[in-house]
Amino acid sequence: MFWMGVDVGTGGTRALLIDADARVHAAFTSPHADMRMERPGWAEQDPENWWEAASAAVRGVLARAETGGESIAGVGLTGQMHGLVVLDDADRVIRPSLIWCDQRSQAQVDAVEAAVGRGNVVAWTANPPLTGFTLPKLLWVRDHEPERFRRVRKVLLPKDYVRLRMTGEHASDVSDASGTGLFDVARRTWSRPMLDAMELDAAILPRVVESDAVTGRVTRAAAEATGLPPGTPVVGGAGDQAADGIGNGIVEPGVASATLGTSGVVFVHMDAPAYDAAGRVHTFCHAVPGAWHVMGVTQAAGLSLRWLRDTLVPGAAYAELMSEAERAEPGCGGLYWLPYLMGERTPHLDASARGGWIGMTARHTRADLIRALVEGVAYSQKDCLDVIEGMGVDVGAVRISGGGARSPFWRQVVADVLGTPVVALESEEGAALGAALLALAGVGGAGTVSEVARRAVRETALHAPDEAKHAVYRKGHAAYRSLYPALRDFYRGAS
Ligand code: XUL
Repeated sequence: MFWMGVDVGTGGTRALLIDADARVHAAFTSPHADMRMERPGWAEQDPENWWEAASAAVRGVLARAETGGESIAGVGLTGQMHGLVVLDDADRVIRPSLIWCDQRSQAQVDAVEAAVGRGNVVAWTANPPLTGFTLPKLLWVRDHEPERFRRVRKVLLPKDYVRLRMTGEHASDVSDASGTGLFDVARRTWSRPMLDAMELDAAILPRVVESDAVTGRVTRAAAEATGLPPGTPVVGGAGDQAADGIGNGIVEPGVASATLGTSGVVFVHMDAPAYDAAGRVHTFCHAVPGAWHVMGVTQAAGLSLRWLRDTLVPGAAYAELMSEAERAEPGCGGLYWLPYLMGERTPHLDASARGGWIGMTARHTRADLIRALVEGVAYSQKDCLDVIEGMGVDVGAVRISGGGARSPFWRQVVADVLGTPVVALESEEGAALGAALLALAGVGGAGTVSEVARRAVRETALHAPDEAKHAVYRKGHAAYRSLYPALRDFYRGAS
């Protein structure tokens, strides 16, 4: 038998199969249409496109594995977090989804803070209100599209829209619900005071379960679309970062994971909820029942490199870009990349921040531009790790995953910048693997979530930090950190 993970990402939906030993058997990705960015800071996708991609990915992985749907014992869902899907009384999508990196809702964040007080928001939901979260996106629709808002009967997150199409159920899991701005993260339930303060009806929200609990079964219509047999159980799953934490075996304190996907994340497990007073990192429920996680987020990690490739070197393979970058010197002769293409979360929490290179001279080459970008993303991950360590969390090593982690060069830069050993894993699958493991734990009788996650992790390459390069990057990080405060007023005026 196999267990399936389905990851509704930003660029595409990936379906993956694991066997009872938690080994990856096959995977298949079906791309999404490009996100629409009609204005700076706006980002939308069509939920119908996610469902089409999810159905195609499920069919694709079954074909690749040369197996039929009857070999699938259970499905776990994961996906991009925070996105707003609004449905009417017949579960029809009312408008395109405002996705995680959409930054249009600063006025709504300010309004929430003014109405409720930041302290109350943190007390009720464990995090300050942020443009990335679902609540301000919903309030934006209420403020700007009242006709559409009046028709809203349900609010779902991206992977939970796929769940609705797969099982007919409105449900979410505690880790993804944590990123809505409406969830009482400490108590693992919707926040009544927050809903009341926002004058929102609790009935618009789905029920919430722990990540390994079964939420429903594949319907006949979904069976036709996907090739999965009707009745196949679907577990709660997790937001992509918590699922990635499971896939990377981050199920106890001491080891962090760094993920270089479209966004970049530094993630640690917590046995009890802990907070950064300034709210610079998120405190969310983990996909391990009864545990929490803390994570810092770089908005544009892989997105920075994709932007560079598409804009400046169209058609180039990422591996070619990495070999070119390797030819430049560490520190790039004082050239810095600020990865703020979609504003920034950790540590600035500033939707108006903008990206760019600083420090360019006539001597700089394209290799410097690429290397500076890789270093800038690593500096931003160092910012995340610094905040987490500042909360008293000890991090002995970092497990790395995501598209950027396929490059040994990028992995070494992260080790050299962080000054911490970086470990690559046999499977770079991260979130899709984590979702499949949640299905294995939930319906496979194979042990708890933590047990199956530990079984799945197989470490491969170890990148020890190079002391000389770390010294260069320590200075580089200090210089990088001086740039945002120097530019803050400019960003505010420019937006
Ligand atoms: C996490 C976050 C992103 C998205 C897209 O808070 O916003 O990681 O989930 O991957």
